[in-house]
Amino acid sequence: MNEAGPARNRVRRQPPTPTPELSLPDVPVAKIPASIGIIMDGNGRWAKRLGWERIKGHTAGIDAVRETSRECAKLGVKELTLYAFSVENWKRPRPEVEYLMGLLRRFAVDEREEIEKNAIRFTTIGRVDELPRETLVELRETERLSADHDGMVLRLALNYGGRSEFADAAKRIAREVAAGTLRPDDIDESAVQQRLYDPAMRDVDLVIRTAGEMRISNFLLWQISYAEIFVTDALWPEFRKPHLHAAIRAFATRERRFGGLVSQ
Ligand code: IPE
Ligand code: IPE
Ligand code: MG
Repeated sequence: MNEAGPARNRVRRQPPTPTPELSLPDVPVAKIPASIGIIMDGNGRWAKRLGWERIKGHTAGIDAVRETSRECAKLGVKELTLYAFSVENWKRPRPEVEYLMGLLRRFAVDEREEIEKNAIRFTTIGRVDELPRETLVELRETERLSADHDGMVLRLALNYGGRSEFADAAKRIAREVAAGTLRPDDIDESAVQQRLYDPAMRDVDLVIRTAGEMRISNFLLWQISYAEIFVTDALWPEFRKPHLHAAIRAFATRERRFGGLVSQ
């Protein structure tokens, strides 16, 4: 996160007024998930299917990111978290990893206009400081430029792992206990939450995974405790508004109980 914070005397950018025809008339506003997390999967398969190199799928996935984040913002989703690179993804061939890092860098630069226009607050979670410097610099700059925006939070999970996030939080807690600034008896769920990558991140309501795989792959383990899960066979580069609408419609019909009983 950008410690410098927003410029104090700048006018806060307001999100544009939602266009009614683009809302989902059959889904009550209260049933729109406040926080969506997406495991963007299937880029490689999409490209292979067309007889192309895997990396073409990553490039094509950018259009899906753009359309999805634009639509989420219009529908009133408060936070969209996209899983873009896992701590395990370093296992991939070096040229693919390098390509992804270059793509991310370009994304951080190219999206600034759209982020500004829609008052989106761009942020990241994960061991982001370990990314290549050229990528990191542009990501941090986009975070800084959008830090005082009032619209939807667009959060990229980069060099992210749910287990690494726990381990990193445990390390912070241990350091504070060792320094005498935190008592073991005071460690509760809220104390752990405060030491996650983005303590202000709300619990995820809906997790969407593309490309048909029925697994979580180390995505947001803490924040998805009670998330509803929606898996679509669409590959990420194919994912468009109708797929997002289908996921939200399915979410709206789910009965969430959080361990309690059905409300009367
Ligand atoms: C998701 O697509 C993008 C990343 C994990 C970076 P994949 O690259 O995993 O595509 P498939 O699953 O191999 O088709
Ligand atoms: C999950 O996709 C990671 C991201 C979308 C960034 P993977 O393709 O890496 O997951 P697995 O290997 O199929 O579980
Ligand atoms: Mg995959």
